[in-house]
Amino acid sequence: MIILGIETSCDETAVAVLDIENGKKIFPKTKILSSLIASQHDIHGPYGGIFPELASRRHIEVIRPMVEDALKEAKVSSEKLAGIAVTNSPGLVGALLVGLSFAKSYAMGLGIPFIGVNHLEGHLNAPLLAHDKIPYPHLGLIVSGGHTALYLVKKFGEYRYLGGTRDDAAGEAFDKVAKLLNLGYPGGPIVDKRAKEGDVKSIKFPKPKLPSYEFSFSGLKTFTRQLIEKNTQTTENICASFQESVVDILVEKTIAAAKAYRCPSIVLTGGVACNSRLRTKMTEAAIKAKKKAYIAPPVYCTDNAAMIGYVGGRYLLQGQSSPLTLNAVANVSFTNMAQTN
Ligand code: KG4
Ligand code: ZN
Repeated sequence: MIILGIETSCDETAVAVLDIENGKKIFPKTKILSSLIASQHDIHGPYGGIFPELASRRHIEVIRPMVEDALKEAKVSSEKLAGIAVTNSPGLVGALLVGLSFAKSYAMGLGIPFIGVNHLEGHLNAPLLAHDKIPYPHLGLIVSGGHTALYLVKKFGEYRYLGGTRDDAAGEAFDKVAKLLNLGYPGGPIVDKRAKEGDVKSIKFPKPKLPSYEFSFSGLKTFTRQLIEKNTQTTENICASFQESVVDILVEKTIAAAKAYRCPSIVLTGGVACNSRLRTKMTEAAIKAKKKAYIAPPVYCTDNAAMIGYVGGRYLLQGQSSPLTLNAVANVSFTNMAQTN
């Protein structure tokens, strides 16, 4: 079944074409025929964060040509599409509406179903784009610019929220620390790079004391600001020690949850899952705990439409679809959705 995936929840316009094996298998064979991502970092960079109205306008400009390019690259004509999957929550409502409205009208024109997908469910399933099988139940950690949360994934479509951040998301903390250090936007990849030249033991960051699966990163950001004011450390040392403390917190809590819920597999996903130190330390800690960490290649960790096409495609295969009245919702929490499951 050929599925078109569309993602416009934030500052990336992404379109993908997937071929998902028909049938009721636990892990249906999936081929990514094309996956295009147009990042908007050039327009938001000068603001040091995302400017919502500019994000929506850029999505409008590029969505149609990107769909055409994605179909061309996949060597698929629009008549071959069986359905369209599109992110409808959470995210910037204006940005979401661009993808959702496009998907609805395109589906209507072609006479095919469309389905709204939760962005976080997309991230949680993204590692399946790179791994044929990830045994259930598994423990999923989403670390992105907007979210930091742990889920028990019982099977496809069944998720239990275990805990998340009380304040900043991990990616947000990376971005804010980079901004304090005048390193540019988005900060995560730059901090990752500069940290390689620094000493992880040079500065001891405070460790927030929180219940089992809860996180807090705003204290690390405040501590960094004070460090910069003192002006006694190099940028590289600050990046290395800050990154190390975030990584250690994420790894420690994830491994503890995997042990508590007897999950042999761990899934690490979201933009911060690109972080080189986090990938290494999570993989090593998983092996030590006799578990296996599944991490997608960086291109499927950050926002992409293949993960949306995959999740929506699987629901479409089960006979589900969305009505044309489906709305974009800025902050439908996947926490609540998961808890009612
Ligand atoms: O998943 P994503 O593309 O978008 C959201 O859904 O938020 O994540 C973007 C976040 C940004 O905060 C970015 O700084 C962070 O992921 N990020 C990284 C790295 N690459 C991207 N953080 C740390 N290290 C990286 N290498
Ligand atoms: Zn995301």
